[in-house]
Amino acid sequence: MKLLNYDHTKIYLDTYFTNLSSLLECFSEQNTYYLIDENVLRLHHSKFASIKNLIIIPSGENSKSLNFISQIVSNLLSLGANRKSYLIGIGGGVTTDITGFVASVFMRGISFGFIPTTLLAMCDASIGGKNGVNLNSVKNIVGVFNNPDFILIDYSFLKTLSNEELVNGFAEIIKHACIASEDLFVKLENISQKNLLKNIDDFIYSSILIKLDIVLIDKKEENQRKLLNFGHTFGHAIESIYGFSHGKSISLGMVFANQIATKMGYLDTNQNTRILNVLNSFNLPSDISSINKKEVLELIYNDKKAIKSNIDFIILNNIGEAFVKSLKVIDLIDG
Ligand SMILES: NC(=O)c1ccc[n+]([C@@H]2O[C@H](COP(=O)([O-])OP(=O)(O)OC[C@H]3O[C@@H](n4cnc5c(N)ncnc54)[C@H](O)[C@@H]3O)[C@@H](O)[C@H]2O)c1
Repeated sequence: MKLLNYDHTKIYLDTYFTNLSSLLECFSEQNTYYLIDENVLRLHHSKFASIKNLIIIPSGENSKSLNFISQIVSNLLSLGANRKSYLIGIGGGVTTDITGFVASVFMRGISFGFIPTTLLAMCDASIGGKNGVNLNSVKNIVGVFNNPDFILIDYSFLKTLSNEELVNGFAEIIKHACIASEDLFVKLENISQKNLLKNIDDFIYSSILIKLDIVLIDKKEENQRKLLNFGHTFGHAIESIYGFSHGKSISLGMVFANQIATKMGYLDTNQNTRILNVLNSFNLPSDISSINKKEVLELIYNDKKAIKSNIDFIILNNIGEAFVKSLKVIDLIDG
């Protein structure tokens, strides 16, 4: 087992869900409530056989709604939860976001922890203290910054993850490497696709360290934390227009961003090619020729990040080095 500490959060890596009660001080099974993703419960039911106080979270983004949050709060009350209760979220980013949000508002805030079960949640969504839900199809628009007491990472959950979800996680790991670590990038270049799960500890650990380095100096996304949006400006727009998976959309978003960085003279073409090769080796798309750039830019313009037609765009100047540049939407069109 590895332990990382940040703020008041303990991150236990490479351990098992069954160690939970021994890792947590003052753990009271009776006063602990679990929000669990429906697929995780179905696929790993033997792990949860003895647990009471389970509330099931239907799979999918629709669960991240204020309506569903009020249902969870009602369920917690009818199960007898109180101010001293502990809330634990077991699932992907949808479940950890919901858990952090509910725990922050239930009786003005109770203690909580995460057991992320997707690669994306292990290396990204559970880290950094953002907990949000959606409103009228605007993503994560209602939320709080609040860190869990613990994050327990048990790789055995990944055995049941679909390949598409695994690749979604790797898209974020590639993003972390691109913005902050050439070493991690080289590991991604050299890994055999057959050995991904065997080497998962190294990828998750490195990815978490990168995210922590960034969020700890900019907790509220005023500056450095924006680097984590690399590929996401175009990516989010592509996801909502074309309905591609998050990983595929972010992959295309990174390709667009690098095209702009290359044209502006920041990223050299060899490095750009290395990134395209890594994306392809993970079966992530890199061909942007069929994407309607005008439509994508229109959506970006209307996005919450576009202030007075300027966008904080993330530019790579090397693999492992990125910076925030304020660009006009028109600059993106020319790029
Ligand atoms: N808070 C943050 O900083 C942050 C960062 C990135 C993403 N997010 C949020 O995270 C969400 C995406 O997270 P995600 O990709 O984990 O999606 P998800 O939670 O929807 O999980 C993806 C799918 O995998 C299934 N699943 C989960 N664990 C499984 C397992 N072990 N085996 C088999 N299936 C399993 C789920 O049922 C679901 O169908 C989005 O809502 C996004 O906004 C938040």
